[in-house]
Amino acid sequence: MHIHTSIAALRAVRAQAGRVAFAPTMGNLHDGHIALMRAARRLTNADTVISSIFVNRLQFGQGEDFDKYPRTFEADRERLVAAGVDHLFVPTETEMYPQPQRYHVTPDPEHASILEGAFRPGHFRGVATVVLKLFNIVQPDFALFGKKDYQQLIVLKNMVNELALPIEIIALDTIRTRDGLAQSSRNNYLSPIERAEAPRLYRQLSIVAEAVRNGVCDFTRPCAVALAELERHGWRPDYLTVRRRADLQVPEQPGEPLVVLAAARLGTTRLIDNIEI
Ligand code: PAJ
Repeated sequence: MHIHTSIAALRAVRAQAGRVAFAPTMGNLHDGHIALMRAARRLTNADTVISSIFVNRLQFGQGEDFDKYPRTFEADRERLVAAGVDHLFVPTETEMYPQPQRYHVTPDPEHASILEGAFRPGHFRGVATVVLKLFNIVQPDFALFGKKDYQQLIVLKNMVNELALPIEIIALDTIRTRDGLAQSSRNNYLSPIERAEAPRLYRQLSIVAEAVRNGVCDFTRPCAVALAELERHGWRPDYLTVRRRADLQVPEQPGEPLVVLAAARLGTTRLIDNIEI
């Protein structure tokens, strides 16, 4: 695997790379990330698989975990080699942001100011801006993202669509540990007791999903029960709600494809998860 730290070096590689599949990350890689890399090989007919590691300051709010976000480059490198990634782009902060970024992608508030966006103002603007910049550097034919970050996926799909980027977005199912907890770099922040408690988020989402599949029409009831159950076990939920998959708005018609999404704090760690219904 070749490692590149400058935009110029990556562009030189890109010129010779044929069809490219790209999976951007912020590092601290786990099985969920690695599944994206393997899918890049398996699901696309790309000639070259490129990944990136960049902890993007723009998408972290004040008081969020930018400084303490785990940086584990050596272990990440080994995992990417084992996953068969051809090129890794690891820009420095000054390479990506030689001056404070003044031009941004502002996603539609309908997609970006609800749910995660309501609790993390500016988050999706930071994500969309860095992903567009990475897309312009890597110029991939395919880009792979996890459904774990469902709203991020919706924002990026709409960005690609509305800005007519010639990129096919491929969405991958959430990879979980055996007890159901979605793999996440933030799981590392959990104490052993919190780690044992953490799968409850997925269990409560599963109960809501099952109720909706069984024909419950008033979604607010199972959601309220799930929220109360989380609170009873020491969680501080931000939201737990059933939305339309397509645009994350409140469902209006029967039969629309749905997703149940939640974010909740366990101690000082904020976890998110979702299940397509
Ligand atoms: P990061 O959190 O490192 O995630 C990188 C990619 O891995 C994202 O597409 C995310 O959805 C996916 N992913 C994370 N956990 C997963 C899991 N358990 N199962 C499947 N996929 C999973 O998301 C970001 O970085 C950043 O916002 C980024 C897009 C790189 C822009 O900075």
